[in-house]
Amino acid sequence: MYVSPMNERPQTTHFGFQTVEEAKKASLVRAVFDSVAPRYDLMNDLMSLGIHRLWKNAFIDAIKPRPGEHLLDVAGGTGDIAFRFLDRGGEQVTVCDINAEMLKVGRERAIDKGYLHGLDWVVGDAERLPLPSASMDAYTIAFGLRNVTHIEMALAEAKRVLKPGGRFFCLEFSRVVLPVFDKIYDTYSFSVLPWLGSKVAGDAEAYQYLAESIRRFPAQEELVSMMEEAGLEQARFRNLSGGIAAIHSAWRL
Ligand SMILES: C[S@@+](CC[C@H](N)C(=O)[O-])C[C@H]1O[C@@H](n2cnc3c(N)ncnc32)[C@H](O)[C@@H]1O
Repeated sequence: MYVSPMNERPQTTHFGFQTVEEAKKASLVRAVFDSVAPRYDLMNDLMSLGIHRLWKNAFIDAIKPRPGEHLLDVAGGTGDIAFRFLDRGGEQVTVCDINAEMLKVGRERAIDKGYLHGLDWVVGDAERLPLPSASMDAYTIAFGLRNVTHIEMALAEAKRVLKPGGRFFCLEFSRVVLPVFDKIYDTYSFSVLPWLGSKVAGDAEAYQYLAESIRRFPAQEELVSMMEEAGLEQARFRNLSGGIAAIHSAWRL
């Protein structure tokens, strides 16, 4: 049995504004999404006043799905990106998420919406994708990268599973770049969001975590550098709604 020396502390990371053991973060994140899964889509509409739909549409505009392409949508949750990809001419999507509850809601939505072909649902961690190397034409991660424990490992995995010539896209909350707006946004995030979370999803803490995790996520330029360090090329970003969200993209060459 391995006995940890007295002075060897467990590696820590952040979970929102809390410091937690690295090994515990994935299960804490899983618990957040277990709790909110049944109300996840309704909460998205309420807390963003429907604007997340516009961001997701802009994301698909950037991807420009092509016939025959196989997309891997990581942290794909309840399927919003996958459904849009198929609607816009894409043919095959593998939705991968660490949380079986979110995928279950996604599968039920797919049946309700009549998506009978072109979808696979896989439980898996963005840091250790259960998929072969060089197998995907495109990789997306929407509002997911913020939740992984090691962003650099998730980026390295994105590069590994993409074919040469494959494309990487990330849609994520980012840093607001408009001076006055950032104060209003802060008030909204730390007061209104947890209140809405408690009323609608019965979980104020999950939405407190959301606000905190957004503040901890690397800003636009820093994420570009991390993508380049992972070996993704021609990395760039575009702000949405004054930087509340941003689309990052790159190539695997
Ligand atoms: C905010 S939701 C986004 C869902 C969907 N992409 C969307 O845009 O509506 C974040 C998702 O990331 C998933 N997730 C968190 N950590 C993950 C990890 N390490 N690997 C894969 N998925 C993860 C959660 O289970 C959750 O479904």
